[in-house]
Amino acid sequence: MLGLFSFFVALAAAYPARGPCSGNCWTHDPSMIQRESDGTYFRFSTGTGVNTMTSSSLKGPWTNVGAALPGGSKITLSGVNSTDIWAPDVHYSDGTYYMYYVLSELGTQNSEIGVATSTTMEPGSWTDHGIIGLPANTDYNRIDPNWINIGGTQYLQFGSYWQDLYQVKLESALEVGSNTPYQIAYNASLNHRIEASFLFEYNDYYYLFFSSGIAGSYTATYPAQGGEYSIRVCRSSTGTGDFVDKDGTACVNSGGTMVLASHNQVYGPGGQGIIQDSDLGPVLFYHFYLYSEKEAGGDGNAGYRYGWNEIGWETGWPVVKAT
Ligand SMILES: *[C@@H]1O[C@H](CO)[C@@H](O)[C@H](O)[C@H]1NC(C)=O
Ligand SMILES: *[C@@H]1O[C@H](CO)[C@@H](O)[C@H](O)[C@H]1NC(C)=O
Repeated sequence: MLGLFSFFVALAAAYPARGPCSGNCWTHDPSMIQRESDGTYFRFSTGTGVNTMTSSSLKGPWTNVGAALPGGSKITLSGVNSTDIWAPDVHYSDGTYYMYYVLSELGTQNSEIGVATSTTMEPGSWTDHGIIGLPANTDYNRIDPNWINIGGTQYLQFGSYWQDLYQVKLESALEVGSNTPYQIAYNASLNHRIEASFLFEYNDYYYLFFSSGIAGSYTATYPAQGGEYSIRVCRSSTGTGDFVDKDGTACVNSGGTMVLASHNQVYGPGGQGIIQDSDLGPVLFYHFYLYSEKEAGGDGNAGYRYGWNEIGWETGWPVVKAT
């Protein structure tokens, strides 16, 4: 009994504490960025019209300032309310903020990726440009977009389940054009539960973060232990393929080194990204489900919380640190 107890204590101690948060600490599939003009932190989430929270620090106090697209997206998708927008991904380029977003019917390939732009990121200031023109394909689901610039060329990572994670070159920030998507990560097990890619350049590598496991609908008894979300990583020197994990296993061959798994109150961390913090450098942010909420039976979207950790790269791989 004591041995078992010590084992669980050891497991719980495996990760340093997450960074502090005050004010409104709810989030779901967060995207975070600092505004160029004044350093204000923005945190965007899945939710009606894309929920927007702001703060003067990563720690808060965070304030809910409203919806990015209060009238919804101009994309029409059968069976989907156009204000029900998922998985925002925001970046800044040359005076403009770009937000990729998703309309989708849960658990189906009835999905589209759209894009909106703003010069301030204030709620209601976004101009919606609608679909980016990513072709439908039974191999992938067009959700969880993530933008990156590699050597002056723009790419979008996306995908969830089916044949998992893909990358496509963009004709412009607003359009895929005639470019063809290719696979960058695949988990052969079960129903291929990986999604939420986030590609980040650091030193000589491109690090592909993704979420593995069951994303939500958590209850006191679901899912089986270890089946919930966790954050994984692979890396590549080109950023456009050949991603491998720390053991050398290819990401297209079920690879992916664990970055953060459930511990203490942090249950099912995922939906992650990296923010280039002006003081701390690259910081990992994510959502997690409050373990106490899960134990109480689960509370749908209300159970999600915002988490963040500084990262150490001493080993060449991202390792979460305490702040
Ligand atoms: C779409 O969702 C919004 C926000 O929840 C709601 O106010 C609106 O009535 C819904 N529209 C339809 C057609 O169901
Ligand atoms: C691949 O999927 C299996 C089954 O869901 C899971 O146990 C494993 O941890 C996953 N591996 C990665 C790298 O996501």
